[in-house]
Amino acid sequence: MILDQFERPLRNLRLSVTDRCNLRCSYCMPEPEYVWLPRADILQFEEIERLVDIFVELGVDKVRLTGGEPLLRRDLPLLVAALAARPGVRDLAMTTNGVLLAQHAAELAQAGLHRVTVSLDTLRPERFEGLTRTAELPRVLDGIAAAAPLFGGLKIDTVVIRGVNDDELADLVEFGRRYRAEVRFIEYMDVGGATHWSMDRVVSCRDMLDSLERRYGPIAPIAEASSAPAERFQLPDGTAFGIISSTTRPFCQQCDRSRLTADGLWYLCLYATRGLDLRGPLRAGTPAPELAGLIRSAWTARRDRGAEDRLTTRDRAPLIPLDTLRRDPHLEMHTRGG
Ligand code: GTP
Ligand code: 5AD
Ligand code: SF4
Repeated sequence: MILDQFERPLRNLRLSVTDRCNLRCSYCMPEPEYVWLPRADILQFEEIERLVDIFVELGVDKVRLTGGEPLLRRDLPLLVAALAARPGVRDLAMTTNGVLLAQHAAELAQAGLHRVTVSLDTLRPERFEGLTRTAELPRVLDGIAAAAPLFGGLKIDTVVIRGVNDDELADLVEFGRRYRAEVRFIEYMDVGGATHWSMDRVVSCRDMLDSLERRYGPIAPIAEASSAPAERFQLPDGTAFGIISSTTRPFCQQCDRSRLTADGLWYLCLYATRGLDLRGPLRAGTPAPELAGLIRSAWTARRDRGAEDRLTTRDRAPLIPLDTLRRDPHLEMHTRGG
């Protein structure tokens, strides 16, 4: 196991398998046009597997497939099967927008995927259309219905934005309950493509709890050693839900995660503006122990605590100006996997 400068182990790898997405969520990909990563740069499954083997040797035991939208990557179940076959990968999960989930859920479960998280910000079709610029809500709901019985402990991620969906918290809790899925409410973050972000659109964890208490009565925290990124809570009837307070109470101190983009750049923080190129050395035939050395040196020097740094920034505005974002797709949230 390797530790960074703040004694945080490298345990959690978010693997983006494509930067493309079939939705245009206002908080993630609000632009009509994007610069996509060049096709030739996208890592092949066999390349991803080689890198995962090195990461596992260095201590990673949780892998999460992300995108863009991971289900847009052709033959994804083949990658799932290959990763699931590695005993070192103790937890293999995927975060999806759910649009293509109904048609792939059975195959993914069969391939050995352990867990699924579906992003769902609203249950109202007209809002969904406003938020994502598509009318795909019914397909997302079908996806959840199909996946819930196949994957124990389905999770639902909801980004809460003031004036957009902050009146739906209880409806979403009720919806989750129907599928035995745990809903996690996420504070709106000022990362990458969240170009319309402003602090007054963030609904804090405290405000969310107040609003849910008005509806349900007293809410109790669930005491756990570590459930980062979410803090978990319980309604009076025992229903559990989570809140991810990345904006007002970041979890950087316990952050054991890093992310690999679809074209093989390795980022040590969601807020990092530069990643370490692993594709170049991999394709140049660098032997595995040397690649492991590169990764080890980068992690042991790691001092990132991006969300905490942002907390101390005064006059906080979107992290990256729009014209800079347009020049470098790597700065986008959708390229680094949410
Ligand atoms: P598990 O806890 O293993 O189920 O996964 P997860 O919660 O990390 O995965 P998911 O993709 O559902 O992430 C949930 C949300 O947490 C994301 O939408 C982000 O808003 C936030 N998040 C994920 N990774 C990071 C991170 O590295 N830093 C910060 N600040 N927030 C993150
Ligand atoms: N703030 C908070 N969460 C975000 N996500 C994407 N952009 C943002 C943002 N600006 C989340 C989505 C999805 C995950 C991959 O990232 O909810 O669940
Ligand atoms: Fe980890 Fe960076 Fe996110 Fe903090 S902001 S939790 S250090 S990835």
